[in-house]
Amino acid sequence: MLVLGIESSCDETGVALVDASGSATPRLLGHALHSQIDMHQAYGGVVPELASRDHIRRVLPLTDAVLAQAGLPLASIDAVAYTRGPGLAGALLVGSGVACALGFALDRPVLGVHHLEGHLLSPFLSTDPPEFPFVALLVSGGHSQLMRVDGVGRYELLGETIDDAAGEAFDKSAKLLGLGYPGGPALARLALQGDPQAYKLPRPLLHSGDLDFSFAGLKTAVLTQVKKLAHARPEGPATTHLADPLTLQQKADVAASVQAAIVEVLVKKSMAAVRHSGLRRLVVAGGVGANALLREQLNAACQKAGVRVHYPELHLCTDNGAMIALAAGMRVQAGLAWEEGAASTGYQFDVKPRWPLADLRLDRAS
Ligand code: KG4
Ligand code: ZN
Repeated sequence: MLVLGIESSCDETGVALVDASGSATPRLLGHALHSQIDMHQAYGGVVPELASRDHIRRVLPLTDAVLAQAGLPLASIDAVAYTRGPGLAGALLVGSGVACALGFALDRPVLGVHHLEGHLLSPFLSTDPPEFPFVALLVSGGHSQLMRVDGVGRYELLGETIDDAAGEAFDKSAKLLGLGYPGGPALARLALQGDPQAYKLPRPLLHSGDLDFSFAGLKTAVLTQVKKLAHARPEGPATTHLADPLTLQQKADVAASVQAAIVEVLVKKSMAAVRHSGLRRLVVAGGVGANALLREQLNAACQKAGVRVHYPELHLCTDNGAMIALAAGMRVQAGLAWEEGAASTGYQFDVKPRWPLADLRLDRAS
């Protein structure tokens, strides 16, 4: 069973092919990715219309590249999967339109996949794949959630952000420091030269007793800190960017302090979720899962607690087509692919820009 996966929910066009034959974990046969970062950088963030147009330009050449990598013809595909949501409506429509057209032309079924389910299952493509059940920390640009995962489609929300996502906290803080888009990797790089204890920043909801997150206050604290430092400089506040008067060391110290605050909250809440669940396995997924400090501190905390921790391969942490093809393959294997709400039947152009993971109604199969 060969499944082609197409990801186009935001600013990466990803296409991949997996072999989901039998019951073994699907095997990646080829994948290709085009990042739109360079295009959006000039605007300081994703421009939805430009994103959609670029997905249109990239998706078929990437599909050809994937098939060439796998050494297989288009006709060998057994099913086509695409990201149905959540994401930018226009961008999602490109993936769904192309997937439906391919499915129709080849007379193959088409599956709409939940983007977060793709992230959640992406560690199954790593060299150290997890086993069910596990606790998942899902940290991306738009989501921060802790989940109990008992199997494919069996997800119980344990806690989530009540305002900004962890990736958003990285991105917004990076913007305040005048760093480029996307801010997370840029902030993490600068933080390497900084002192994480230089500035005392809040650890929101750290002692709230539940498993929810809140990162909006952190952004305000960073803004206050940057303003304070800018006004204290002899040349006074900047006319162009707020952070201009700061020395490189001050910026690096702020970056290190922000990163330390976000990571401490993510690590402590993840460990609390593991304790609460009684499970001994943690899976980390989503773009922020690429953060080196987060991995280092989670590894240390998990080792101390006797908990196994699993990550996606670094290049599969951020958006990609492999996780969409994988999630579709695992659904087919679990007999869940055609369940209502999970997959589109026929060749309709239906996308779900807003789509809570909890709305995947899959418990019936268990
Ligand atoms: O999962 P993802 O690629 O896209 C969404 O589904 O949102 O996550 C993107 C997010 C962005 O906020 C980006 O700044 C963040 O992941 N990110 C990082 C790192 N790499 C990506 N944040 C911190 N450290 C990183 N190394
Ligand atoms: Zn994502």
